[in-house]
Amino acid sequence: MGIIEVRELKKVFNGNTAVDGVSFSVEAGEVFGLLGPNGAGKSTLISMISCLLDPTSGDALIDGHSVIKEPMEVKKILGVIPQEIALYPTLTARENLHFWSKMYGLSSQDAKKRADDVLKIAGLSDRADEKIETYSGGMKRRINIAAGLLHKPKVLLMDEPTVGIDPQSRNHILETVKSLNKSGLTVLYTSHYMEEVEFLCDRIAIVDQGKVMASGTQEELKKIVGQKDIVRIKASGMLDKAIDDVKRVDGIDGATVKDGEIDILTKDSRKVLAVIISILNQENVKMASVEVQEPDLEGVFLHLTGKSLRD
Ligand SMILES: Nc1ncnc2c1ncn2[C@@H]1O[C@H](COP(=O)(O)OP(=O)(O)OP(=O)(O)O)[C@@H](O)[C@H]1O
Ligand SMILES: [Mg+2]
Repeated sequence: MGIIEVRELKKVFNGNTAVDGVSFSVEAGEVFGLLGPNGAGKSTLISMISCLLDPTSGDALIDGHSVIKEPMEVKKILGVIPQEIALYPTLTARENLHFWSKMYGLSSQDAKKRADDVLKIAGLSDRADEKIETYSGGMKRRINIAAGLLHKPKVLLMDEPTVGIDPQSRNHILETVKSLNKSGLTVLYTSHYMEEVEFLCDRIAIVDQGKVMASGTQEELKKIVGQKDIVRIKASGMLDKAIDDVKRVDGIDGATVKDGEIDILTKDSRKVLAVIISILNQENVKMASVEVQEPDLEGVFLHLTGKSLRD
């Protein structure tokens, strides 16, 4: 049995199903990714697994303990890094950590020692006595992570810990996750960034609209797409209109546009490439680059849902 066993978890909010019968299993020592776009149900899942939200039905077992029947046991095992920053802005980082240590029931002596340890992990020992309100977004996120590590959890749940921060803090967080995992921590990591789950995760569940669309290693997920390529075009102009025409071309299995990038899924890139380029020219789209590549997780998501992961 996995250290995290999610079994048919479901959450309905006022008639809207946010999580729709999700099951997966995470082995001890893994970094497991939940990859999905905005509104997929990632945070709702994390809230149920961490006993902050009652499931409508289903259950999750953490090291054998039910989140419904044994929440106190579960909370001892889990460290939870919520998507929203949970820090008091007018207190210093050290004071915030002390507060969380008290919540976890650590002795004053342990609290002091653990604060030093987790500040080191966050790379913020030298800023520990400054108020959180003077921190950058990335530094706040790093202290948020530090707070979740105070009680030495066996399993860490991280909900989109890198959204909206500078590249340096982002890299620091990704490297921290890697090294925590190397030292034995099991991590459940949610993101809508394909690159992050590719970098970090042993296995991945792709989620959309409250459901697991597919799960497995990266290699297993890429095989789902079969013998198709991604044609990726960086461009500017009326891309949304152009893409509607591109989608109608024979031999194209899906196309999305986001942030000046067009992704096209096709079995026969050589055959359709000329047609695509001529359509984009007709629509006065300016192309900066065209690449044909094997499907990545973005391509897998496009194949499964017809949509883009990115927002
Ligand atoms: N407390 C709530 N009350 C009502 N609806 C909610 C509540 N929390 C979430 N939802 C709805 O549930 C769905 C899933 O939301 P959730 O926050 O779990 O998605 P997410 O994958 O975490 O998205 P994001 O990437 O934007 O954080 C959304 O449609 C959302 O509007
Ligand atoms: Mg979320």
